[in-house]
Amino acid sequence: MSTKYFPKDFLWGAATASYQIEGSPLADGAGSSIWHRFSHTPGNILNGDTGDVAADHYRRYKEDIALMKEMGLKGYRFSIAWPRIYPYGKGKINEKGMDFYDRLVDELLEAGITPFITLYHWDLPATLQDLGGWANRDIACWFADYADYMFQRLGDRVENWSTLNEPWVVAFVGHLFGEHAPGMKDIYSAFLVTHNQLRAHSKAVRAFREANIANGKIGITLSNTSHDPATDSMEDKIAAKVAHEWNNYPLFLHPIYYGDYPDTVKEFLKEYLPKNYYKDMEEIKEEIDFVGINYYSGDLVKFDPDSPLGGKSVERGLPKTEMGWEIYPEGFYKILKGLQDEYNPKEVYVTENGAAFDDKVENGEVHDHKRIDYLKKHFEMAHKAIEDGVKLKGYFVWSLLDNFEWAFGYSKRFGIVYVDYNTQKRIIKDSGKWYSQIIKNNSLDF
Ligand code: BGC
Repeated sequence: MSTKYFPKDFLWGAATASYQIEGSPLADGAGSSIWHRFSHTPGNILNGDTGDVAADHYRRYKEDIALMKEMGLKGYRFSIAWPRIYPYGKGKINEKGMDFYDRLVDELLEAGITPFITLYHWDLPATLQDLGGWANRDIACWFADYADYMFQRLGDRVENWSTLNEPWVVAFVGHLFGEHAPGMKDIYSAFLVTHNQLRAHSKAVRAFREANIANGKIGITLSNTSHDPATDSMEDKIAAKVAHEWNNYPLFLHPIYYGDYPDTVKEFLKEYLPKNYYKDMEEIKEEIDFVGINYYSGDLVKFDPDSPLGGKSVERGLPKTEMGWEIYPEGFYKILKGLQDEYNPKEVYVTENGAAFDDKVENGEVHDHKRIDYLKKHFEMAHKAIEDGVKLKGYFVWSLLDNFEWAFGYSKRFGIVYVDYNTQKRIIKDSGKWYSQIIKNNSLDF
């Protein structure tokens, strides 16, 4: 068997998000975010957990960067908390909040780690929510102004930028299912939010081009679940295709690459979006430098005339993670290959992939062999995708640290580094040690 090397300069890293790890959400003049409000509203988060302390990364970032260095990470994907920079969402800047990200970036560069910034990973300034949040058309300008300011302040040191993390989750889990902030259950808002995120994304991309950052790259990060038809019947195939176009990269990339929603979405949206939404498409169609793919799991789809999208999930008996998500590495390959075939992006990054398991500390160590197995199988699929022409340039494991898993609070651990929430002590799990060997060898075989 030949050794499976990854391409030279492959960016191996780990990912986090501001509200999930930082803690101190109101420190040094920061404004409140929708997640601060949501988690402080009783009944929203398992066990009443909040992001008030999280992994205390706001104060321990140096220690965390030292751990990244110890594991040999080449890249680190993190997000900026918009309300630390603009406590009121727009207008007055909070220099002390800015200072945190300045120091974080400098420390990463000092450690030889490439920063990969996400501008929005769900912690919208609460004052903007009071104005309608993502459902207000003006947010495209608010977001582009914030993005532009970040390009001005960090663009001298940071080349890689992602505008939005998982806009599907923001739109539907936050505005239709009500499980995430801002906790709405309103289908009209969900579609407006989908559309306005696209508008905001593209305006930020234009600001990025004007900022003219040396070697700068900008893209978007999208959530994906592999949807396969339960049988070969035409009905199941259509149901799986509809689920794919509504839930995965096509919903956002079709507008960005072709200036139109996918066919299965378009007809439906007409009813919900303002009549002139097609005009926006000219603006939304804007070249990007890479697509960020988040992938965790698969879903077998069967035709169901009673479900809104015409399909329902059926059990296929695969092993599951602690989230109850089935482990389906083949689906990861299908997503990566499908993306390259359908949109031919210039570059692709896996911006998130990983798994939650019930980790236990035993004599100061965490033997998370299930996570190693999960990652190995997904790395193999990524390697196969590269061999088959996918322009994959890097891979960020979710997550660097155990953290605040949104509505599940601290009950789910995704980290390759264990966090003891009582003491804030960190322990590199066996998966973290194993990952550092992969990175060192740039290969799956060692
Ligand atoms: C999000 C992360 C989240 C992870 C696991 C993704 O949807 O971007 O913030 O923790 O999946 O649920």
